[in-house]
Formats: sequence, structure tokens, C-alpha cells
Amino acid sequence: MAQTGPTAFVIFGGGGDLTYRKLIPALFNLWLDKWLIEPFQIFCVDGKPDEGAAFLQHLREGIDSFSRQGKASDEQWKALSARIQYLSANFDDAALYASLATKLDQLDEKWKAKATRIFYLSTPPTVVQMIGKHLAQAGLTDEAERERVVCEKPFGHDLESACALNTFLTGLFKEKQLYRIDHYLGKETVQNIIAFRFANGIQEPLWNRRYIDSVQITVAEAVGVEHRGGYYDHSGALRDMIQNHLLQLLCLVAMEAPVSFDADELRSKKVDVLRAVRRLEREELPRVVVRGQYGPGTIDGQRVPGYREEQGVDPRSATETFAALKLYVDNWRWQDVPFYLRTGKHLPGQASEIVIQFRPVPHMAFPPEVIGEIEPNRLYLQIQPEQGIVEAFQAKYPGPTMRLATVETRFSYSEFNEPAPEAYETLLLDVMRGDATLFMRGDQVEEAWKIVMPILDYWVQQGSSIGTYPAGTWGPEAASQLIARDGRLWVEPKSIQDKR
Ligand code: BG6
Repeated sequence: MAQTGPTAFVIFGGGGDLTYRKLIPALFNLWLDKWLIEPFQIFCVDGKPDEGAAFLQHLREGIDSFSRQGKASDEQWKALSARIQYLSANFDDAALYASLATKLDQLDEKWKAKATRIFYLSTPPTVVQMIGKHLAQAGLTDEAERERVVCEKPFGHDLESACALNTFLTGLFKEKQLYRIDHYLGKETVQNIIAFRFANGIQEPLWNRRYIDSVQITVAEAVGVEHRGGYYDHSGALRDMIQNHLLQLLCLVAMEAPVSFDADELRSKKVDVLRAVRRLEREELPRVVVRGQYGPGTIDGQRVPGYREEQGVDPRSATETFAALKLYVDNWRWQDVPFYLRTGKHLPGQASEIVIQFRPVPHMAFPPEVIGEIEPNRLYLQIQPEQGIVEAFQAKYPGPTMRLATVETRFSYSEFNEPAPEAYETLLLDVMRGDATLFMRGDQVEEAWKIVMPILDYWVQQGSSIGTYPAGTWGPEAASQLIARDGRLWVEPKSIQDKR
């Protein structure tokens, strides 16, 4: 495993929410666990005036609220904050990049090393190209081996803008310098899909059209749009979640076995899946795609407002807060196996789960009254908040006659008794090590956009007519019909079933 060396982080958008909630807490945890080792320096660059100690205090509060390993002690914070510097600057000012170049060179001199330089663009997509251009012009990304650029999502607003962004960035930087984040890929349970499939001889032979009936991928959120209405109203569930997180989960479920754990090998296997996803035709869209928007409702006994009443949201908005769709992967392994995807905000609970539903046995030798009791074999891959795997199968119910009951074997991550890193810890560490396996390559992003574009175009044609669902329910009725037309039902996430 590549060791990390001296590292300089430059976070553009360093005064923003992601830095506060995710990046600094992740760096704090990496530092506690001795993955982030001296010497290192963190520059937080943002347009707001420098508030000095108040800014550092704000970052400390972020750690106190969001760090996996709890609050920072005074001593820890004193040591870490000495490594953080705020730079108040306009991202479009060439002087910023000249001064960064000087500061970074001074660090190299002080550390007597050529430090890894990580430029993290935690900024609105509108300024990514501008920052990229300045970095390149200032010569800050000339050394591809050690100078890396991290791009946060959204990566483009549609296929055209994503392609333009890719062309622009790869014109400035080498692909291996670019780290396009999809934070789902940093989650332990998401990485475990590969371990589960390809390290177990008893699993992989079954994962194909011969044995699998269908796959469901649910990413349900209990929260609404919270304080992000302004961003979300221009995005919606399809762009915000399906184009990236859910399609990446689909790739991991459907990909062929990699030859090695090399970044490009894994990413190529995933892009093969995206290329094989059957393109959606305009005529079929009303049957295979559903969108919805939450109206007022009740969550945990509390009344919550409808989406159109949220701050930053257009009161006539047609942005979807829920999306469901059916896809097929046209290849030898998956031909005609439906993949049902759904995601939404203000659903009945937070649960990200993948359900692999197996085909019935080829011959039912049981008495007729027993046959009605048989439930499909199912594998639940629990991504969050429960982290584990549940296998549901049939067993003989005790008694003198043959009766069947669904029983389960369960694996929970808690059995490891080992704290799991947060997604951003894993991803930041990988950038430090120069391992791009868990990051999106340019072609993956573009292929994913190709899949969702027909839906986006169709919804534009549909105008503002969007179905609503009461907050706290499983989306619009049309989503149930989408799957019921195929004689199936959405499977409620196991973690939510368990709470009942
Ligand atoms: C982000 C989306 O990418 O993922 C958010 O922009 C969403 O809208 C979030 O809430 C979900 O991430 P997680 O890790 O909480 O499941």
C-alpha cells in the first residue's frame, strides 16, 4: 500500500459547507489514525474576508459535530489548527495562484521534499474551469506525478456540459491527475460489493440471468432538501443521485470480474456496464420512468412543509425529489434481468439497500398449500445506515407437516469490531496515495449522462406537470405501478422492516 508523504492541500471553497462538514473532519480523523502524517499543510481558499481565529473555531465546531471519532481535544486542535491557513481571495485573481505557487515552493524548501499537492475544488461547477485554467497557467499542475486536482460533483449539468468540462480539463491536466468524486464509492459497504462478489466462490456463479430474477437499488433519504434548495431546484433526484450514486451501485452489481485491482481495470469493467445499459426510447418512458415531488407530510410525528415551500425553491418548481426507473443491461450475463432504481427525499426512512432477488426453484415438489408460502430468495446488501448483508431463504417450519418459513442469515459490519472510515476519509487518503480506483474516469461520467439524458429531455417536454407524494411516504403511486406492471413489488429496505 503506497505510503503518504509530505502533502499540501489547497481547498477552493474552503469556507464552505463541505469543508466544514466533511473535509476537515475527514482530515482530522486521518490525522488521528496516523494516515495523515507530518509534514502537511491545509490552505482553505475562499472569497469571504479572513475571520482569523473565528474561522478556525468554526472548523473546530465542524469537527465537534461531524467527526467520526468525536470532538477534538484542546491539545489535538492546537496541533491540527497550526497546519490550517485561510486565504481570502477571488478565485479569478491571477495573484492568488502566484502567491500559492510561492507558498507551496516554500513548503517544499522547508520540508526538503517535493510534496504532493492536492487542489480540491469544492466549488460551484461554474468556477471549476476558471480555477483549472489559473492552476495550469500558474504552472501549479505541471508535475502530473504529484499535483492532483479533485473535482466535486455535479460533474456537468447534462451530457453536453459534462463532455465540454471533460474536454476542457483533460486539455489542461492528464487524466491521472483528475479525481472526480462520487462519495458513494468511498463507502465501506459499497467497496464491499466487490469483495463479496469476487472473493467468494459461492456467490459469483449465481450472479447472472440464469439465477437472478431482478435487482432493486433503493437510496431513500428521510431528510428533505434542507438548506440546499437553491442548488437542488436546478438539479433534482435524477441528476443529484441517479446519474452518479445509483448508477455506480448498478455498475458494481453488474460488472464482470476484474483481472486485477488496478484503477483503470476496475473503471473499465464499470464503464462496460454503463455502455451495455439499454438506451431508453421515448415511447417507453411513460412506463419505465416515474418522477415525483414531496408535498407537505409527517416525518417522525412532525409536520414538514412541501418541497415548493422550501427556502430557495421556486414555488412553481417542477423539480423531482423522487425518481424511479427500470433499466436493462444488454449483455450475456444480464440480458432481460430488470434493474429497478429509486431514490427520493422525505421518504419513510433513511436506507440505501440493494436487493438481489433470485428466481424461483425450477420445480415445486411441495404440496399446493405450501407453494403459496414460498417467498423468493433474496440478498440484501445494506449500504447504510445498517451496514451488512442479509440472506433470506426458505426453511422448514417446525412441525409434523411440511410448512415453509422465510429465515435469514445476517452479517453485520459491527462484527468486525473495527471502526470504519467515513467515505471522505477513504477518498482523501486515496488522493494522497495517488490511487484513482474509487474515482470516476471521464468516460464513466459521460456514459452515465447518456443513460439519463432521454429522461431529462422527456421531463422538459412534460413541463411542470409532476405528481406529488406526501412527505414520509414511498413516492408517487406511479412508482408502485411501474414495478407492479412486471408482477413485482418494491421490497421495503430491511433496515426499515426491522424497525417495525
Ligand atoms: C449527495 C447529494 O451527493 O448525496 C445529496 O447531493 C444527498 O442530495 C447525499 O443527500 C446523500 O449522501 P449520503 O452519503 O448521506 O447517502
